[in-house]
Amino acid sequence: MSLQRTLKLLYALVLCVSANEDFDWTKNERGSFYYGTFPTGFSWGAGGSAYQTEGAWDKDGKGMSIWDVFAHKKGKIFLNDTADHSCEGYYKFKDDITLMKDMKFNHYRFSISWPRIFPTGIKADHINEKGMKYYDDLINMLLDNNITPIVTLYHWDLPQVLQEKYGGWQNASMVNYFNDFANLCFERFGDRVKYWITFNNPWSSAVEGYETGEHAPGLKLRGTGAYKAAHHIIKAHAKVWHTYDTQWRSKQKGLVGISLLADWGEPVDITNQRDIEAAERYVQFYMGWFATPIFNGDYPQVMKDYIGRKSAQQGLGTSRLPVFSSQEKSYIKGTCDFLGIGHFTTRYITQKNYPSGRGNNYFTDRDLVELVDPRWPDPGSEWLYSVPWGFRRLLNFVKTQYGNPLIYVTENGVSEKVQRCTDLCDEWRMQYFKDYINEMLKALKDGVNVKGYTAWSLLDKFEWDEGFSERFGLFYVDFLNKNKPRYPKASVQYYKRIISSNGFPNQREVESWRRKATETCSSSNQLLAADPLTSHMEMVTEIVVPTVCTLCILLAAVFLMFLLRGRF
Ligand code: NOJ
Repeated sequence: MSLQRTLKLLYALVLCVSANEDFDWTKNERGSFYYGTFPTGFSWGAGGSAYQTEGAWDKDGKGMSIWDVFAHKKGKIFLNDTADHSCEGYYKFKDDITLMKDMKFNHYRFSISWPRIFPTGIKADHINEKGMKYYDDLINMLLDNNITPIVTLYHWDLPQVLQEKYGGWQNASMVNYFNDFANLCFERFGDRVKYWITFNNPWSSAVEGYETGEHAPGLKLRGTGAYKAAHHIIKAHAKVWHTYDTQWRSKQKGLVGISLLADWGEPVDITNQRDIEAAERYVQFYMGWFATPIFNGDYPQVMKDYIGRKSAQQGLGTSRLPVFSSQEKSYIKGTCDFLGIGHFTTRYITQKNYPSGRGNNYFTDRDLVELVDPRWPDPGSEWLYSVPWGFRRLLNFVKTQYGNPLIYVTENGVSEKVQRCTDLCDEWRMQYFKDYINEMLKALKDGVNVKGYTAWSLLDKFEWDEGFSERFGLFYVDFLNKNKPRYPKASVQYYKRIISSNGFPNQREVESWRRKATETCSSSNQLLAADPLTSHMEMVTEIVVPTVCTLCILLAAVFLMFLLRGRF
């Protein structure tokens, strides 16, 4: 055998081995900071979603979504907040694009509100052209400013009519309704939009919408609701991908993916096989639930085994986890041009048996417990601990499990939990971005195919059941002021530097960024401190002055009447 052939064979062997490579749960490098830059063309941006930012909830012919209705019910949202007005993004998108341009974003991720386009959710009923125009203008203006739109079709705001009439994602008919909606978006926007995300974080829609009821539509169908909703969502995703593939791809040349939220699960004891398996279950029940059918054709084996066994122990004839037919499996497999990853935090995982009984649900089906290290920083949302190394491990897991797909990070960021925070010097957010983006850079060096990063989020906005109490924005939004002014937090300057350097060029430079960013935020703080005064002045001119004038006129009229009465 010639040397060349031997080398070729060896090379093929290495390729084979690496293609079948298993994720090594015991490899646990948590190295120091890595200075270096991203490949040219790496895409930087930020995101938001329709219900969280647009406001204009009942304007210009928009129909109700399940979130409009849910948020209006008392006791569902912290302080009974609603996103009726939120950031008024519907009216202020031009200002927001100016902010993005200044930060030199390559892309912006937003979602289209289904009921803004089809008020009842159903194409045959009515298409709302005013809603279409809003998205047309938004897309055009982004492109005029060289910002690529990354468009999500479903960020949780199902048309209320579809929930009321059919039970929403519990019903298989959603697959066709969603496909009609997506198809219209491809038809009308696809000449300009080249990155489509079918579903954002379907885990939340399924588990929080139909199992725990913390999110709209607020149903508590424990043990079955989430699995059924997810089943229909996966089928809807696949159908939309095929629609694009057969009807639009050759003309429009875009990509269709899905965005999955995935926390990382790390075994408490990496030498303990039961912990390793429990951690793998955690990730499989989270991201694998959706990613495995889409990349490999069926639910993760571990989900089928666990839910099947627990269902049998409950005395059920079939598993609570629905089954895909073999035709469906091949239809669903491979329906992802890129994988969007939303990642915020990590948990330690250990094994715990939940005996099968009446309390069966998604959480007990997993037989595990989630733990956190009390030393992990948790500046904002209760669930959000900053654990940067988990990000690199998650990205490597995706690479080994799903054949090194094209990845866009579609959400990553941190909140602050403050009612009226006037502190724009968000030290912890700069630290979070620095460390998480650095772990993404390390993952890229590990061979993970990441092409873009989306900071979550551009603006402070409505944070679902937490209302406005958790602020994820790079920009602070003053929700008490009717004009919803935006103020840059220090992290805007910091992120801007990461973007302009395309990473972390060298220690000396990177270390100066924090100081420079905090210099600007103290002057913005003064602006913000003056803001209550401005709102106060506005209140004086808009409410107090007209009220006093009306009272004066009334008093004068009464006085005049008395005078005249006395005369005659
Ligand atoms: C994921 C959701 O997609 C997004 O809407 C939300 O703001 C973030 N999680 C933070 O909770």
